[in-house]
Amino acid sequence: MSADDKYPAESGRRRFVKGVVGGAALAGVGATGAVSMNTLTTASGAGGGPVEAMVIENTAGPAPRGMPQIPIEIDDEGYIKGVWPEIQTETVEGVEIEVARQDIAGVTYSQEWFQYCGLESNNALDPSYESDNYFVTDPGGGYEWQSDKSEGDRFYVSEFDDYQEWNSEAGIGSAGIGKAGSAVWRSGESENPMPVTILRSETIEQAAQNNDWLAASTDQGVIAWLNKCTHFCCVPSFKTASDAPKYDAANKVYCACHQSVYDPFSITSAIYISRPRPE
Ligand code: FES
Repeated sequence: MSADDKYPAESGRRRFVKGVVGGAALAGVGATGAVSMNTLTTASGAGGGPVEAMVIENTAGPAPRGMPQIPIEIDDEGYIKGVWPEIQTETVEGVEIEVARQDIAGVTYSQEWFQYCGLESNNALDPSYESDNYFVTDPGGGYEWQSDKSEGDRFYVSEFDDYQEWNSEAGIGSAGIGKAGSAVWRSGESENPMPVTILRSETIEQAAQNNDWLAASTDQGVIAWLNKCTHFCCVPSFKTASDAPKYDAANKVYCACHQSVYDPFSITSAIYISRPRPE
């Protein structure tokens, strides 16, 4: 982690609430809203710069913004994968660089959404890094229900079929708001893997019916995000940390390092400065 990853608190965020589904404890799922600009970090290198990303909203704590959503698709066999944007070549300051970027439901989705916390130097964010893009089991651990999976196993949508009843083994918060899985993405043997949380929930399923972005970036109620705290790069948790309820995070994503809280049922947009990839 570098000091350059310290951003001041964001302000002026707004979101459009699309309605509450699945219980009063949950925030409505928000859609696009112009939000805030964090302090510039300048550095040489390929790519980087201002980017607008769809994020799970940061609702409390020192984190400067939400964590970026990863659009997903479910293949014909039922396995869940992250969408990697199409590769394009563009010229920046006279130098041709490759960028993975594409339009999804009017939103510009790009690799730059994930360029923070040192991940910008990860092979995974080389636009042309070869990966099948499936989410696979996290060698660092996962939820109890994942214990019969082997390292590198994919996630099958039916493994989340009990999403309307599930609660974590820690029993934090309400059962039935959604079932989570802990995964990595495009990481191979990397020492700095891309941690991902997969969540299947009725709230997302319902919200996607009235929201073009969610309809295009989720499927069967499955949503995913890069689970890397935008404060100091810890890996937060969903419904497993015993002190989460103290911070109004029993049904949210909680970072135990400095008590940042994120709401996976509120998707907003955030503008920030993505860090350049090393040349
Ligand atoms: S709140 Fe500081 S790293 Fe997450």
